[in-house]
Amino acid sequence: MFVFNSPTRLSFGVGAADRAAVELGALGARKVLIVTGPGKTAAAEPLAALKRDLEAAGIAWAHYAGAGADPTTEMVDEGASTYKEEGCDAILGFGGGSPLDCAKGIGAVVGEGRSIRDFVGTGLALTAALPPLVAIPTTAGTGSEVTSAAVFIRTDGDKKVKKGISGASLYPRLALVDPRLMVSLPPALTAATGMDALTHAVEAYVSKTHNPVADLYCLESIRLIGLHLKRACRRGDDLDARAGMALASTLAGVALSQAGLGMVHGFAHAAGALCGLAHGLANAIMLPYVMRACIPDASARLSDVGRALTGRHSATAIDAVAAMADLAAEIGIPRNLGEAGVPEGMLQAIFDDAKNYKRRPQSPHAFTDEELWALLGKAWSERMAD
Ligand SMILES: [Fe+2]
Repeated sequence: MFVFNSPTRLSFGVGAADRAAVELGALGARKVLIVTGPGKTAAAEPLAALKRDLEAAGIAWAHYAGAGADPTTEMVDEGASTYKEEGCDAILGFGGGSPLDCAKGIGAVVGEGRSIRDFVGTGLALTAALPPLVAIPTTAGTGSEVTSAAVFIRTDGDKKVKKGISGASLYPRLALVDPRLMVSLPPALTAATGMDALTHAVEAYVSKTHNPVADLYCLESIRLIGLHLKRACRRGDDLDARAGMALASTLAGVALSQAGLGMVHGFAHAAGALCGLAHGLANAIMLPYVMRACIPDASARLSDVGRALTGRHSATAIDAVAAMADLAAEIGIPRNLGEAGVPEGMLQAIFDDAKNYKRRPQSPHAFTDEELWALLGKAWSERMAD
């Protein structure tokens, strides 16, 4: 028995983002809160064009540009205050995973009528409907534009955690995925976000809660990443490679909401919260180490991953792990957590957080705490791709 529910309408391709004003009008929006990060995306031409289109369509807008990397619960609550003060009735998330997640969080605060802190890391279920939410990704990685989850940093005293909220209400109403918006993404960000997408597809595919429809999305996503990620890193303006990665990321996002994730994300969230390690980078580093440890339990599925990623029919689970490590190395991902600047003294805290990851039971291998600790040590110092 399985359920497949991916209710976000998807408009995909070059020019898809140009439809934002028309689509928001169709959703009944009269004043839209645009949510972005504080960086270049907020000031770049595509967003200026979008604002002009909204004005031409008679839709007012307000702009909350405070959705920084790894959005905090404070950012979400602040954005929700802006939404209310400005009298908005719809939300448009525009940017990488952080602004898209922040936009979802703002929607949840508005819909539920309480602080996002009430939901992050508490297990309290989301029950209310959100205002209409449109997501326009400018990176190919998170898949947030089609997922039912969002991740935030919550600080309590001197304790910082990175926790997800999830629920069917968080599926955006519409995702406008336009590869043209990704051509200016620098190679390092292209690499890290692309490896996040690969991690989603692989973890969803080997998860204990995988299902046959999500499998299709995973394998096609992995195949596209094998074909396009290196090209997109090498030549940012290769629109064909960007389109391949954009589709791969969206497919993986659909899959992860149906089939779950595993301990790569468990470690990545902990390293992100405690050391500020970028999400995609943390996943890229952890992926081959965690998957190598899963081979005894997921050998056939990892062979499928290897075939999809390399295009070689003879690929085994071991080849799959090697291909992930090689791909990461080729696009400039550090070989291990130590190389990425994670201090050895932080490993205990990372382990303490990661071992409580709520999706740990979805891992194909039922890791003991001892195994997780040993795995983390290897990922800190080993050089798998050499
Ligand atoms: Fe992720």
